[in-house]
Amino acid sequence: MSSAPPQPAPDFERIRADFPRARTAAYFDNASSHPLSVHSAEALHRYVEWLTHEVGEPWWPAWAATRDQAQQLFASLINADRDEIAFARSTVEAESNIINGMSEHLAGGNVVTNDLAFSAALYNYQMRQLDGLDVRVVRHRDWQLDVAAMEAAMNADTRLVSVAMVSNVNGFLADMRALSELAHARGALLYADIMQAAGAVPIDVRALGIDIAACSTFKWLMGVKGYGFLYVRADLQGTIVKPSQHSGVASFNYQPWTDSPDPDAADILFQPTTGPSRYEVSYPSYEGAICAQESLRYIHELGIDNIRAHASSLTDRLHAELPKLGYPSITPPDNDSPIVSFVASDPAAAMQKLRAAGVHVAMRFGNKMRIAPSVYNNHDDITRLLEALA
Ligand SMILES: Cc1ncc(COP(=O)(O)O)c(C=O)c1O
Repeated sequence: MSSAPPQPAPDFERIRADFPRARTAAYFDNASSHPLSVHSAEALHRYVEWLTHEVGEPWWPAWAATRDQAQQLFASLINADRDEIAFARSTVEAESNIINGMSEHLAGGNVVTNDLAFSAALYNYQMRQLDGLDVRVVRHRDWQLDVAAMEAAMNADTRLVSVAMVSNVNGFLADMRALSELAHARGALLYADIMQAAGAVPIDVRALGIDIAACSTFKWLMGVKGYGFLYVRADLQGTIVKPSQHSGVASFNYQPWTDSPDPDAADILFQPTTGPSRYEVSYPSYEGAICAQESLRYIHELGIDNIRAHASSLTDRLHAELPKLGYPSITPPDNDSPIVSFVASDPAAAMQKLRAAGVHVAMRFGNKMRIAPSVYNNHDDITRLLEALA
């Protein structure tokens, strides 16, 4: 998708050494919570040291620069402009704020989503349905987002199509280009929950036609909870997507607040925040921004295509081997994400065997075993998992 020349493949064994968690377990639960690298941990320690021993003026410039760089690095990761990125505290919260801010756009229309979206996002839409919004939740077909069924659910009143670009259920990578074309043809916008996509698969919001997107950083962006990013296409900011929380400042135009009051101006002057910061209230988590800055640099250095190629070599083996051991897959084998899910006939027994072998996966929706290898996992980890379940 990007026209940049391919980056040389990194030495993934060296990368393994950057993640101490790799030494204590075969940890495959990166789609729940990714471990920190030593680089992010060191940056965080430095911040804690500063907070503990040195906090004081001037504190603003240093950490504001960190926040700005994290947002810039994220913008380039998804091929957006820096002025299209706000910080967000959570994916679900950002989507909820965005829906609130689009109330005029959504009025009288419908939203099309699907059952591979994140459950808290669906709950959010369900609550709005109770308030009168027409919400259409399209069912998956064979655990895949069914573009034709999504199209059938859309009509001239569709205002928003909302999907998880990569599903947390089984890693299914949605055809965002097809969805944006369908949405845009009806005057609707495409929102992408990129929580399981950012850092894991290539994202080009321009090429894919994504209008709005959000994620936090504790999964494939290798950061912490409570910090993330919101992308809103420049021309939608303050027009179709209005801020849903008030963000701005007040100043007093009288003494003793000012020595030179402006007689033609009001006593209290209110100035709204502009640009993407209009969607931000107060400070971000600087702990989050510091980790994100480190890990985004790291991800850029490795290159998303290299990260994908590494994860595929591991998930290919799972696709080939686990069904033979009695765990059928609910992720299509040609799916292009690092998350694969398998059905366990006896989930408790499977989890017990894995735990005993020091292997961490997620068991979700009763019996769906989700395995999500990252940059520091290797074939020995896969062997350990397969032997535990054999
Ligand atoms: C697809 C998806 N969206 C959203 C979330 C929640 O993100 P946040 O905690 O940033 O709201 C998760 C995971 O927890 C997820 O897998």
